[in-house]
Amino acid sequence: MYAITIPEPGGPEALVWDEVPDPVPGEGEVLVEVVAGAVNRADILQRQGFYDPPPGASPYPGLECSGRIVETGPGVSAWAVGDEVCALLAGGGYAEKVVVPAGQLLPVPEGVDLKSAAALPEVVCTVWSNVFMVAHLRPAETLLVHGGSSGIGTMAIQLAKAVGAKVAVTAGTKEKLDRCAELGADILINYREQDFVEEVRKATDGAGADVILDNMGAKYLDRNVQALAVNGRLAIIGMQGGLKGELNIAALLGKRGAISATSLRARPLSEKAAIVAAVREHVWPLLAAGHVHPVVDREIPMPDAAAAHRVVEESGHVGKVLLVAP
Ligand SMILES: NC(=O)c1ccc[n+]([C@@H]2O[C@H](COP(=O)([O-])OP(=O)(O)OC[C@H]3O[C@@H](n4cnc5c(N)ncnc54)[C@H](OP(=O)(O)O)[C@@H]3O)[C@@H](O)[C@H]2O)c1
Repeated sequence: MYAITIPEPGGPEALVWDEVPDPVPGEGEVLVEVVAGAVNRADILQRQGFYDPPPGASPYPGLECSGRIVETGPGVSAWAVGDEVCALLAGGGYAEKVVVPAGQLLPVPEGVDLKSAAALPEVVCTVWSNVFMVAHLRPAETLLVHGGSSGIGTMAIQLAKAVGAKVAVTAGTKEKLDRCAELGADILINYREQDFVEEVRKATDGAGADVILDNMGAKYLDRNVQALAVNGRLAIIGMQGGLKGELNIAALLGKRGAISATSLRARPLSEKAAIVAAVREHVWPLLAAGHVHPVVDREIPMPDAAAAHRVVEESGHVGKVLLVAP
């Protein structure tokens, strides 16, 4: 088969479409012929040499895909050859074929085409596990999503609205904020021109955000704590603004606040399977009912993954960039 390989870390040109051995499914795994993959920010870090795949994972990038099952390994009974699926991966989605643990497979949701389903697994699992399973966002609470027009952000807005929460977002341009509003965001904050702490307070009668989904890490740590409501929960999933920040413990204590931080990729198979099962139970019906949909910015042929990385690195997208297999 062919896959995007990274012979040497570097810029987008480091991504090379090359012939590689076919993967073979083991116990509890299936082989999926990939129809589409999708780009995640983590893939860029992997390409640059800053984010190695976890032990045992495929060396090729790609944390999600959609496609058809072409082979099942021993011990797989819930899935069959020919099933159309999408999958959460620890790697290997930028390839013509990928091996997937059965617990990380999802059926293509009703009302979603096979290609677009590739835009779902990573963002839905990340948002559901952090915002709902860890931070327990409840109806009528306020969620602040940083990077509202990102792959993650566009899904977070829709899921929070679907459960009846109020949503505030930050983004860097008016056009991106407009797209967030179309998805249901109620409070629109341009992070280049406005102070999100002040804007969130103003929009919540001084209360603040009950849950914050944060991609920035260190740079926003102090201001995120300031923007939290009493009993607020800050869920950190990214470090785009640095790794080490100073935490004002007194401020957090005064809020009776909580901070969580998780990474999906390195979680054990059992935890990923539990998240995938929760997503299938809670999110798949929302997709089938049309309350939530994948937001696809554009499709790029997989061998030209470098072009897709350029788009994402320049933040020229809203939602997800798909890589379509030849
Ligand atoms: N922990 C996990 O398991 C996990 C899983 C998936 C993703 N993530 C993380 O989630 C984040 C989003 O991932 P993605 O793939 O959806 O990324 P993406 O589509 O590339 O989006 C990145 C976003 O960062 C925003 N941004 C840049 N500077 C900002 C600032 N100062 N304030 C607020 N937002 C800012 C950009 O907004 P503009 O375009 O408006 O500038 C853009 O929306 C990344 O940090 C990623 O690493 C974590």
